[in-house]
Amino acid sequence: MSVEAALAARRSVRGYTKQTLTLAEVGQLLWAAQGVTSPDGKRTAPSAMHRYPLEIAVVAQNVEGLSSGAYRYVPAKHSLELLMAAKPGVPLLAGSTQQAQVHNAPAVFVISAVYERMGSGAKNRTWTDYEAGLASENLLLEAVALGLGAVVTGGIDPASAKEAVKLTGGEEVIVVIPVGHPAN
Ligand SMILES: Cc1cc2nc3c(=O)[nH]c(=O)nc-3n(C[C@H](O)[C@H](O)[C@H](O)COP(=O)(O)O)c2cc1C
Repeated sequence: MSVEAALAARRSVRGYTKQTLTLAEVGQLLWAAQGVTSPDGKRTAPSAMHRYPLEIAVVAQNVEGLSSGAYRYVPAKHSLELLMAAKPGVPLLAGSTQQAQVHNAPAVFVISAVYERMGSGAKNRTWTDYEAGLASENLLLEAVALGLGAVVTGGIDPASAKEAVKLTGGEEVIVVIPVGHPAN
């Protein structure tokens, strides 16, 4: 699929079928957001002063090949680290939002940042938020290319989401992005 076709087809999708995502699809979405694409560690999305303040976690709720729970994406290894195991069928982010798409999606991507990594200049918080947007759009377009649906969901309680997925490295949650097979 061309970039133009993915851009034209992208729409916020809030209803998903019960079909699982595969671990390969989850990996592809994470790679699109923050994957390493050169030997010096540079990534799919640009980063101001190449400081890479973003951290992406994924909450697996119905992913083939991945036990229910929250995982941190490790770009350098293109791998996942378990943050928090969950019982199947119990949405980890239930206390963070009432928006049903977050509870129903087979996978929810949690976009967070360690703002300190960008430094303390007047524009640095803006740049970090800007990067979250770049990474998010990459993920949204990858979802389209995989035939999946997604919606940026900012209507969450960030502190509760952070606690729910056990982010303990100074991250602040910015948005979450549920992804699944579109219901319609
Ligand atoms: C920063 C941001 C936060 C958003 N938060 C929510 C949200 O909490 N819930 C939701 O259903 N959609 C949310 N959206 C999706 C917008 O409602 C959607 O992008 C807009 O209606 C345009 O529709 P489209 O994405 O299909 O083009 C958010 C979008 C952005 C960029």
